[in-house]
Amino acid sequence: MTSHTAPPPADRRAITLPRLAEMKEAGEPIVMVTAYDYPSAKVAEEAGADIVLVGDTAAMVVLGYPGTEPVSMDEMIVLGKAVRRGLTTPLMVGDMPMGSYEAGNELAVANAQRLVKETGCQVVKLEAGGTSVERARAIIRSGIPVMGHVGLTPQTATALGGYKTQGKTAQAAIKLCEDALALQSVGCFAIVFEAVPAAVTEAIVEKLEVPTIGIGAGPSTAGQVLVYHDLLGITTGRTAKFVKRYAEIHEAMVDGVRAYAEEVRSRHFPEPDHVYGVEPAELDELRRYLDQESLTSQKAWDWEPLP
Ligand code: KIV
Repeated sequence: MTSHTAPPPADRRAITLPRLAEMKEAGEPIVMVTAYDYPSAKVAEEAGADIVLVGDTAAMVVLGYPGTEPVSMDEMIVLGKAVRRGLTTPLMVGDMPMGSYEAGNELAVANAQRLVKETGCQVVKLEAGGTSVERARAIIRSGIPVMGHVGLTPQTATALGGYKTQGKTAQAAIKLCEDALALQSVGCFAIVFEAVPAAVTEAIVEKLEVPTIGIGAGPSTAGQVLVYHDLLGITTGRTAKFVKRYAEIHEAMVDGVRAYAEEVRSRHFPEPDHVYGVEPAELDELRRYLDQESLTSQKAWDWEPLP
């Protein structure tokens, strides 16, 4: 198989936390995308993403669960390890799955350390404000940088009333702002805003110093994130309003496999270009061996069983 992956441009340096802060200050948009395996990581690398999130959306887009709730640490670790092998320059974020941090600071630190040590991600992300602020503080104190996530937090979507826009009332927007400020105050280096009205996001991000990354939160955040399978059109069925599909890869994949199946059934595949050759003399010798009377008369049941 040929590799089409070009090495990252020589002038492309590894993305660090100070570099992200610098980008925010300079008004240079930050590009974040999810990845869940080696090939998607290589695509993100080659396309020049700044941040790659091994998101717990893997639960839905890769593992076929109905929501993000069921995915385990062990599953996230397998995916994260594969992503690490495909990345050189983007900052790699490991998403803390539901149940890996909420119950206490000790659990949160232990699982954040596990993600970093076993997958090689440089930072972790956890969802929501409230008690998550305490967990974020503990993880940051242990030496692991944390990205916060406010607005629609899929791990707690049921409690939020479903996959719905958040911060639509003044009261809800104030709560969201307080969560974001609290996450910033304990040292989160960046905060994701998901499914928040653009004007609400704009008003809140003005009060924040750390870079914000939006998904369905309008254009005012320092960066944007989309789920790999959504933006490439691998996801089928209904997607959120904020998704823009930049390709239709699912269709292309089905077309490819269908064409292969048709060619196998019509015996058009494999073609001469896809087969290996052999020296005629070697083939003749094989044929002489196969033509022996003693060989053709031998039945499988003539063999002696092993002692
Ligand atoms: O898990 C994920 O992919 C995410 C993004 C939607 C931000 O949290």
